[in-house]
Amino acid sequence: MGMRRFANVRAAALWSSIVVGLLAGNRAVHAQSPAGGPPTIVPGAIWPDDRGKHVQAHGGGIIRFGGTYYWFGEERAHGLDPERRYVSCYSSKDLAHWTFHQDVVKTTNPDPAVLGRDWILERPKVYYNAKTRKFVMYMHLDGSGTAGGQGGYNVARVGVATCDTIDGDYQFLKDFRPLGHESRDIGQFIDDDGTAYLIFEDRPNGFHIARLSDDYLEVEKDICLIRMHMEGGALVHYQGLYYAIGSALSGWSPNPNKYATATSLSGPWSEFKDIAPPATKTYGSQSTMLLKVSGTKTTTVVFMGDIWKPDGQWDSRYLWMPLELGAGKLRLPAPKPFTLDVTTGEAVVGK
Ligand code: GAL
Repeated sequence: MGMRRFANVRAAALWSSIVVGLLAGNRAVHAQSPAGGPPTIVPGAIWPDDRGKHVQAHGGGIIRFGGTYYWFGEERAHGLDPERRYVSCYSSKDLAHWTFHQDVVKTTNPDPAVLGRDWILERPKVYYNAKTRKFVMYMHLDGSGTAGGQGGYNVARVGVATCDTIDGDYQFLKDFRPLGHESRDIGQFIDDDGTAYLIFEDRPNGFHIARLSDDYLEVEKDICLIRMHMEGGALVHYQGLYYAIGSALSGWSPNPNKYATATSLSGPWSEFKDIAPPATKTYGSQSTMLLKVSGTKTTTVVFMGDIWKPDGQWDSRYLWMPLELGAGKLRLPAPKPFTLDVTTGEAVVGK
């Protein structure tokens, strides 16, 4: 057992260094197109934006709006004001070349009386509400609380901010515990019929899939509580099945992420299985979203994960890979450079 654990730890460390080490040198080719073809995405590499700076959109999420993809995430660049927390916004037509718009959130503590010291803002996700024409951002807000707690994760709430434009300055609206429950890591899911859900990790109970209200400003109804403790929760609807994935609770350290399936969001859900060989610890990453790219020829689902660097979060990388998916099985293949054609939906993984 001891030896096995040791071997697993070594394998995970090896994977992280292979992914980050081998690919780190590839920064220049990250989004280079082979002659005429779709651009290459290199998992684990520095991902330069239009300014040549590494994309800062950690724990992020992507929505498509007006034919353009928008990526929101935690901005963790060097030199930020330590009193503030930031959410970045980037856009892309091809999911490879990203243009920085601005930090759409750069806020001091929005609710000091509740969040207390050491406050955090993590895993922002943006929804577009067609009825109100507002962009609605959910985020994990936390802090020491006011009961003299230690560290920054005692409060377990979501925050909501809104904006009239996708990349404008989001205005903080409120924070609360969804349906009265603790909520730390959150995830976003928009079903094929447009219904918007918030996934949230409730430490005493498990993994919630909850529907948002008509205006998206409330978490209205628990659709399912999966009695499984998972962070970085994500969902996709693919060929008539829902696939839920998430990570174990090991902070910034990677662990074997798992998946389950169901024909209805309300369950019953299958047992959870590993998405990759467990010794690789999800190839050193943690899930944040499953991105479905439906094209003229096929549909590809991309696993979006974070490779966290707790000692220098600005340098945290992204592990994106097309999933092998279907008939109730989900597999994250070993990370390799790949191309993704957003028009046809086709992904080609390098040798
Ligand atoms: C992870 C979580 C991250 C961050 C981190 C802090 O498990 O997914 O978003 O909260 O813990 O240790």
